[in-house]
Amino acid sequence: MIAEKTLNQTLHTAKFFKRDEFYTQLSDIESELKHYKEHFKGKVVFCNCDDPRSSNFFNYFAYNFENLGLKKLLVSCYKNQEKNLFIQEEPESAVFLEYTGDKDGKKARNAEEIGIKMLQGDGDFRSQEVIEFLKQADIIVTNPPFSLFREYVEQLLKYEKKFLIIGNINAITYKEIFKLIKENKAWLGINMGRGISGFIVPDNYELYGTEVRIDSLGDKIISPNNCLWLTNLDTFKRSEDIILSKTYYGNESQYPKFDNYDAINVDKTKDIPIDYEGVMGVPITFLHKFNPEQFELVKFRKGNDDKDLSINGKCPYFRILIKNRKL
Ligand SMILES: C[S@@+](CC[C@H](N)C(=O)[O-])C[C@H]1O[C@@H](n2cnc3c(N)ncnc32)[C@H](O)[C@@H]1O
Repeated sequence: MIAEKTLNQTLHTAKFFKRDEFYTQLSDIESELKHYKEHFKGKVVFCNCDDPRSSNFFNYFAYNFENLGLKKLLVSCYKNQEKNLFIQEEPESAVFLEYTGDKDGKKARNAEEIGIKMLQGDGDFRSQEVIEFLKQADIIVTNPPFSLFREYVEQLLKYEKKFLIIGNINAITYKEIFKLIKENKAWLGINMGRGISGFIVPDNYELYGTEVRIDSLGDKIISPNNCLWLTNLDTFKRSEDIILSKTYYGNESQYPKFDNYDAINVDKTKDIPIDYEGVMGVPITFLHKFNPEQFELVKFRKGNDDKDLSINGKCPYFRILIKNRKL
């Protein structure tokens, strides 16, 4: 019964991410963005999956424009086939907005005051029109469509942009994304899992078995608890060592070796032994605490035979193979 419930939940969550129509809460944006203030001074920010009439990314940057010392804010959205969550009518076309600070001597905060313009195309982040905005931008910040996550990140790299975006934890298991993390070209932000409190979904969203609530504004919020921030902006966390207290020698039986790789299995990041100089297989959530000066990422998920890492024939959940650089 429990297994069935978990399966249902997984299926509902998978469906949820497939639809792409879930919206980030201002509180979640604030609690991540407060750690990056120094990166934004004098910069052009682009939110390229955001309707300026409803996006909290737009609200955050418009409201904090002076506080962050931004040079320009660009926001563009896709012409969605479905009804818009907030204005509840068919959108006529994709729109964009450009804000360079005070307008006519006064601070404009909402999209109408700033002035919304029509895009010629559908606002797809891959369209030439939207790429022209991307080229002007220094930092891209948004929650992009999860179904196009790989392509989205690939485009950011192609144009050598700084970014701070929301994704699903599973994205780490994509080989393209893991490669980026391994090569130190991207890393996890500050908040992850339950650290991202939930997303606003349309009223008619049906999600049984998942955490759903109505907030004080009457919005329906779903908490999938499996999202993260992916970034290439430096954070304080990247230079903090994970405090280790366990030892391997004397406790060898707690750290079995894999069948198909010369490494020990560690079930929880906090149990990484302080004294093991070889390779260790740790859960993917390790990446949330990863400091590249403390550990090296060796390999992901597979053993020498290119099959999933196993112990006595059983595969624990995905493991990342790491090595302590300080030993
Ligand atoms: C997960 S939602 C997040 C919306 C908004 N960024 C936020 O955080 O509230 C992803 C958004 O990307 C839009 N989208 C889907 N395909 C797109 C595309 N090809 N180009 C640009 N945006 C797209 C969807 O319409 C949806 O609004």
